[in-house]
Amino acid sequence: MSSDDLHKRRVAAVARGVGSTITSYVDHASGGTLTDVDGREWIDFAAGIAVTSVGNSAPRVVEAVQRQVERFTHTCFMVAPYEAYVEVCEQLNALTPGDHEKRSALFNSGAEAVENAVKIARKATGRQAVVVFDHAYHGRTNLTMALTAKNMPYKDGFGPFAGEVYRVPMSYPFRDGRTGADAASLAIDIIEKQVGADNVAALLIEPVQGEGGFIVPATGFLPALAAWAKSAGAVFIADEIQTGFCRTGDWFASEHEGVVPDLVTTAKGIAGGLPLAGVTGRADIMDAVHVGGLGGTYGGNPVACAAALAAIETMRELDLAGAARTIGAIMLPALRDLAERHPVIGEVRGRGAMIALEIVKPGTTEPDAATAAAVSKACHEAGLLTLTCGTYGNILRFLPPLVMPEDTLRTGLAILADAFATV
Ligand SMILES: Cc1ncc(COP(=O)(O)O)c(C=O)c1O
Repeated sequence: MSSDDLHKRRVAAVARGVGSTITSYVDHASGGTLTDVDGREWIDFAAGIAVTSVGNSAPRVVEAVQRQVERFTHTCFMVAPYEAYVEVCEQLNALTPGDHEKRSALFNSGAEAVENAVKIARKATGRQAVVVFDHAYHGRTNLTMALTAKNMPYKDGFGPFAGEVYRVPMSYPFRDGRTGADAASLAIDIIEKQVGADNVAALLIEPVQGEGGFIVPATGFLPALAAWAKSAGAVFIADEIQTGFCRTGDWFASEHEGVVPDLVTTAKGIAGGLPLAGVTGRADIMDAVHVGGLGGTYGGNPVACAAALAAIETMRELDLAGAARTIGAIMLPALRDLAERHPVIGEVRGRGAMIALEIVKPGTTEPDAATAAAVSKACHEAGLLTLTCGTYGNILRFLPPLVMPEDTLRTGLAILADAFATV
């Protein structure tokens, strides 16, 4: 059945609120490409939104999933536990920043992990306020919508939202021109004046913001916030759902400036495309929750855990943190060169294999979402799958699988350059 036929069926069957970037339907996918049902090959600069870092249908993941499915598919860890759940928690405890004693709990989605991190922080501190940042994205459930900054499309008409959520300015060097220290002082001053340090249960932040625009905070911003949280007795939660598992060239983006979060949320890249998420953190904070206070029917499903263990092994064996750094080293100079020729590119930024272009009206910082959309569309027409994002919708973002062969990456970059030449 062709993509056109499938699309007609989809329009009649699937709720309109669930959008898709492209209208081609996938038949199969590998390390760097998707092939649609019409036989057309796409270069994948999306990785299912930073998920298939080890590639689609990565051999170890496929083998581990097949083996697990044959043994058992589900018991519910809260009913009858199994080793793979424990082993994923051991891996998370070992891999996340800091060598203190840690515990982990597993869930199904990033939003669920963030919700649970907030629950844990509130229980551990006996406080309620959660501080989040401009441009933040933490999910689509009721609490995580409240934590997310952007109204359209994530929140519009879906309120009322959960309370005790306070938003402060993010460090956004392209737009605020502040040093990390100045941006942190501004945020801390607002927290102290408007929330009160003693009321803060958690300070929740993406070390590099994802959906909000691939915003890399100025150096010093994250360490200053982590230090303030410590002094205020608040839990510092790093949402590493998009940045984690090698994406930014380290296992976790917090490591870049030596920040050791109290809690870390993970999902996306953790399990090679199977749904799994985690909260990992200081044993005393994690274990402040009473027995039975955390869980869910499917959280840490054995098939997803088997996939995660295989994905983590693949990341280690292939040094995918190094691969992400190599991707960045190839992409950043090529994109800076493109920016010289196209003044609509206001900034090239990112780290490792999490790279973006901020599109503006030339010579200004005025966002130009229409041009970003036009470039993205031209890429799609030429077979390169790219995504846009950002509070202003003007960010072109690139998240190739970390196993993408170099020639595929360079072909993708050439398509992108041609797309800029045509808009
Ligand atoms: C930083 C961050 N937190 C949370 C989420 C929500 O994850 P999920 O879509 O798995 O619920 C996302 C998803 O894009 C994310 O990027």
